Amino acid sequence: MTHAALIARYDGRIPRYTSYPTAPHFSTAVGPQEYAAWLQALPDDATLSLYLHVPFCDRLCLYCGCNTTVVRHEAPRRAYAAMLEREIRMVASLIGRRAAVGHVHWGGGTPTTLPADCLVSIMNTVRELFDLRAGAEVAIEIDPTVLPADRLEALSGMGITRVSLGVQDLEPDVQQAIGRKQSYAMTEDCATKLRGMGITSLNLDLIYGLPFQTVDSVARTARRALGLGADRVAVFGYAHVPWMKRHQSLIDEAALPGPLARFEQSRMIARVLEEAGGYVPIGLDHYAKPDDALAQASATAGLKRNFQGYTTDTAPALIGLGASSIGGLPQGYVQNATGVPAYSAAIGKGVLATARGIAVTEEDKLRRAVIERIMCGDETDLVAIAEAHGMDAGGLLAAAAGLDRFVADGLVVWDGQRVKMTDAGRPFTRSAAALFDAYLKRDDAKPRHAQAV
Ligand SMILES: C[S@@+](CC[C@H](N)C(=O)[O-])C[C@H]1O[C@@H](n2cnc3c(N)ncnc32)[C@H](O)[C@@H]1O
Ligand code: SF4
Repeated sequence: MTHAALIARYDGRIPRYTSYPTAPHFSTAVGPQEYAAWLQALPDDATLSLYLHVPFCDRLCLYCGCNTTVVRHEAPRRAYAAMLEREIRMVASLIGRRAAVGHVHWGGGTPTTLPADCLVSIMNTVRELFDLRAGAEVAIEIDPTVLPADRLEALSGMGITRVSLGVQDLEPDVQQAIGRKQSYAMTEDCATKLRGMGITSLNLDLIYGLPFQTVDSVARTARRALGLGADRVAVFGYAHVPWMKRHQSLIDEAALPGPLARFEQSRMIARVLEEAGGYVPIGLDHYAKPDDALAQASATAGLKRNFQGYTTDTAPALIGLGASSIGGLPQGYVQNATGVPAYSAAIGKGVLATARGIAVTEEDKLRRAVIERIMCGDETDLVAIAEAHGMDAGGLLAAAAGLDRFVADGLVVWDGQRVKMTDAGRPFTRSAAALFDAYLKRDDAKPRHAQAV
């Protein structure tokens, strides 16, 4: 079957499965009270992960799908930092002990829009109230075009161990169309400075499917990006969702590559990264150097998936802090109020800012485990997973009937119990995982998710 025919058959508006159930199914049934009870019930010996969201940027890239706004003044940034510290104190006091933490991730937006002293102070509060384990990963997302000297210095004070650099695309016409000017030299300079400070774990983000991108142009970007020597590269398909992100409507849809072109672009980037760069593919959209922990986790079926994408993090609970942040606990998911005013109003009153969430059922946990293993590219044994959950595999096996056409098209290997994506099937991983999503069928026709491929 041609690629065009495969795309016509399998592309659709399918979630990225960074959680299951996915965020559109969160509701106000879960609020501050439920979240407080969930925090209090965390097992004493649990090593936790923290995610801190900073919803500010110095510029707004037209393609951006993140929860962020351009804030130019320092006062609101300081006010937000104070709220974040307050929320950390509230959460730590509900947990009721100095819990162990193995991963901290600062995301955004652009976390370094916070003043340097605020960044260090927040990290100090984290260290005071949580037991940051030796060797803990402290990661931060950085916009290489905006990293003033004091923020660079703050990264040392914060004990940052890993940095993700947003690159996206290095071609001038594409950068012009997405409102993001960023030279290779600027990006390289940022990487060099970070390495000079001893931060040797570097990630890069690239995007395909952007306006004016072609197979040749993304190959050029990917080849130049190799020069940055990152340990990990995330390659995202541009999620064009102007009904949710209104600034994306400033992107000329006529300049956007179609589904087949997107597919070919993602394959080309994969080729450059794997053949010229020596990276190994991880799950759906990540690449890592073979000796990187992510590659090793992937090789031993130890890869995990959370809101930041693929990770080595095996913590039973991810605590989300800041406006719009999502947390995952053994009992379910919680999301804070999306807007800074609503978030700050709650925290300012000493109330958790939980706006929505979902309690997970035993059935959800079972399906989540299957979806996660498929998304991680593993051989997924439906019967063994059901047994491990003390449940019957009947529902999973019924859903697996949908795999037949994937098998016929060479995308999946399926022996009636175990399922694994083939190399050709990797771009369609989300579509195969979606077969086990019990909520997707109930979705209405509204286009809430971006294209799967
Ligand atoms: C919070 S940003 C990264 C940090 C920093 N703000 C920057 O832009 O350099 C996280 C990443 O999300 C990805 N991203 C943002 N909007 C996207 C979209 N609409 N579709 C696909 N990926 C997107 C980009 O690759 C971006 O680097
Ligand atoms: S891509 Fe990064 S810098 Fe650009 S608007 Fe989004 S979060 Fe801000």
